[in-house]
Amino acid sequence: MAHKIYLDYAATTPVDKKVLKAILPYFSEKFGNAMSIHQFGQEALKAVDKAREQVAEFLKCSPTEIIFTSGATESNNLAIKGALRSYYSRPENKNKKPHIITTKFEHHCVLDTCKILEKEASAEVTYLPVYKEGVVKIEDVKKAIKPNTILISVMHVNNEIGTVQPIIAIGKLLRELRIRAKELRYPLFHTDATQGVNYFDCDMTKLNVDLLSFSAHKIYGPKGVGVLFVRKNTPIKRIQDGGDQEYKLRAGTHNVPGIVGLGEAISQLTTNNKQQTTKIINLRDYLIQRVIKEIPRSYLNGSLEKRSPNNANFRFDNVEGEGLVLSLDMEGIAASTGSACSSGALEPSHVLLAIGLKPEQAHGSLRLTLGKHTTKKEIDFTANKLKEIIKRLRSISGKVLEEFK
Ligand SMILES: Cc1ncc(COP(=O)(O)O)c(C=O)c1O
Repeated sequence: MAHKIYLDYAATTPVDKKVLKAILPYFSEKFGNAMSIHQFGQEALKAVDKAREQVAEFLKCSPTEIIFTSGATESNNLAIKGALRSYYSRPENKNKKPHIITTKFEHHCVLDTCKILEKEASAEVTYLPVYKEGVVKIEDVKKAIKPNTILISVMHVNNEIGTVQPIIAIGKLLRELRIRAKELRYPLFHTDATQGVNYFDCDMTKLNVDLLSFSAHKIYGPKGVGVLFVRKNTPIKRIQDGGDQEYKLRAGTHNVPGIVGLGEAISQLTTNNKQQTTKIINLRDYLIQRVIKEIPRSYLNGSLEKRSPNNANFRFDNVEGEGLVLSLDMEGIAASTGSACSSGALEPSHVLLAIGLKPEQAHGSLRLTLGKHTTKKEIDFTANKLKEIIKRLRSISGKVLEEFK
């Protein structure tokens, strides 16, 4: 098959044509540094300001609450470590170890940050369970909160199994708690919305989050640029020292082309979303239906109902996910096993273990994520090939087992 099929939109997305067009001049004729006071700089600053307004319009917040970063990894690090830095900057907190709540299946950039803080003894951390469905329970959040809890970080949509977390409910709970305790600052609420912004309403007047992160490359924007939304008066300090960019919260020369692309990508989302989302949901449901019905001993990982429109994550008995991805790739179909960010290592995915799968079940899992360019023809081709490949892989593994008897 000459035509390549891309079903790994959760790993990254192609840059939208309009976005690319908007970016290009900022590499060449409009190359100024946004902090320079001459006209080149002013032109770049104007573009950064426009992008900030585009993001603010999407998030329904003030442009002053938008911090441009190099991506969700940096935004998540800044949110968590920055909150901790601010906490410790107050003399009365010097010897009071703070508590952070997160979940067992966050992206590694959140989990590893929390683990480092635990190791350094700067914070204690509770990792909430996510159960078979892959969804956090609000009662567990409530029970985990302690007097020294300063931050709760729960992802919006899981990147591997696509399950959607109760962000509105957690935000409401925390808001009520803070009002009752007459504590205006803590616990702060952070969400990693990297996989959520594409499909869900991220209206900051409705989501009671203090901090929200995402990357442009998951929404048809360029790689290496992202956002941390920081609600006004949120106690947070910068973690990277240097220049005064981004309201002194993120030092370093602006990635002007990237920021322009992010702004353009997000304004495209607002205009196109509904129609695209319905198309993607229909294709995803069709794919799930075909796979479960036509491939024996195949299962969907995580909740079907509380799921991102573009995610299908399957497991197949007696099949290795890596072999499956390689066989699909040979047919021109791009898929993933576990998370793209951790592939390369043959460790079972921490997400799949967190929903109670055994390591061998986690190894037999496959993630297919759809996007705005996915067609029914591609889904049909993929489902047909998947059937053939699984049959072949199972018969090979059956023969190998026979030989070892
Ligand atoms: C949920 C989630 N958070 C964070 C990240 C990290 O994003 P980036 O690599 O753009 O920094 C990813 C990327 O896959 C993700 O899916």
